[in-house]
Amino acid sequence: MMPPLPQPQPEFNGMSPAEKPRIVISRSKDVEGVLYKNLTLWTPETKEKPSTVLVQPFTHQFRPGNRVLLTGPSGCGKSTILRTKRNMWIEGSGEIIYGENIRLCIVPQRPHLPLRNLKGIVTYPAVDPEIYDDDRVIEVLHKVGLARVLAENDGRLKAKLHDNDLDGSSYINILSGGQQQRLMFARAIIMNANFIALDEATAALDKGSGPEMYETLLREISEDAIILSVAHRDDIAWLHNIHAEISNGVFSVRPLSLSENGNECRESLCPHCREPLP
Ligand SMILES: Nc1ncnc2c1ncn2[C@@H]1O[C@H](COP(=O)(O)OP(=O)(O)OP(=O)(O)O)[C@@H](O)[C@H]1O
Ligand SMILES: [Mg+2]
Repeated sequence: MMPPLPQPQPEFNGMSPAEKPRIVISRSKDVEGVLYKNLTLWTPETKEKPSTVLVQPFTHQFRPGNRVLLTGPSGCGKSTILRTKRNMWIEGSGEIIYGENIRLCIVPQRPHLPLRNLKGIVTYPAVDPEIYDDDRVIEVLHKVGLARVLAENDGRLKAKLHDNDLDGSSYINILSGGQQQRLMFARAIIMNANFIALDEATAALDKGSGPEMYETLLREISEDAIILSVAHRDDIAWLHNIHAEISNGVFSVRPLSLSENGNECRESLCPHCREPLP
């Protein structure tokens, strides 16, 4: 059920897009991780409906190594928060400041398969897919369990990476929803992302494969990487150590203890057992 949206309505209703405040996105060497500063989000203003506040102003810093589980009722703004990371058109105000070394990857619920060959899809949004070695791409496709699905051997897979007759519009039919989600995990690993936002990124995978995909991702990325997950299933909760919640338009954060997320610790992947980061 939709949560009641907090009032009052933003005072900018009726302003032209140029006049409206917006979210400013920048990079700074003074920020470690990612800082959301006085960030507030609104629903888009339409002819029929004025904007209302979706998430009230909040400030929060995601620090290196944070593994954050973001929850809240349907429609409260979880996906919108994740979308703010790149898209300036989201309505809201405040700042998002990325640390200088942050490499962002969004793993969406509905995978985006651009009209490029397989290598272009897996390495998206890289402008030049050739900055990545074919063998590395093949290795990662093995890790996410897609290599055999795509070709019977690595030689054929290499040819397929560059086959321009097959693009995103083909793979959307060739690959199942879960396999497309695996492709998105491959993307995050290949780009060696260190701020990964996952929006119900394993929803199309079966019960065992979802956590398995997360575990693969966590093994491959840096310990310092920041994870921000929106998830309805609790089978990946144990991989997180912070619980962020949006409730009645208020964003709040608290530590997530191992006992309350109901899963057993599994050594090195468990953020609760790792050495504290310097
Ligand atoms: N482009 C849009 N036009 C109109 N309303 C929008 C648009 N995008 C988002 N909204 C509204 O903003 C609110 C937040 O949407 P959002 O997708 O962030 O919710 P959510 O918390 O991710 O929900 P769910 O758990 O169902 O995925 C919803 O009420 C939605 O209808
Ligand atoms: Mg959503």
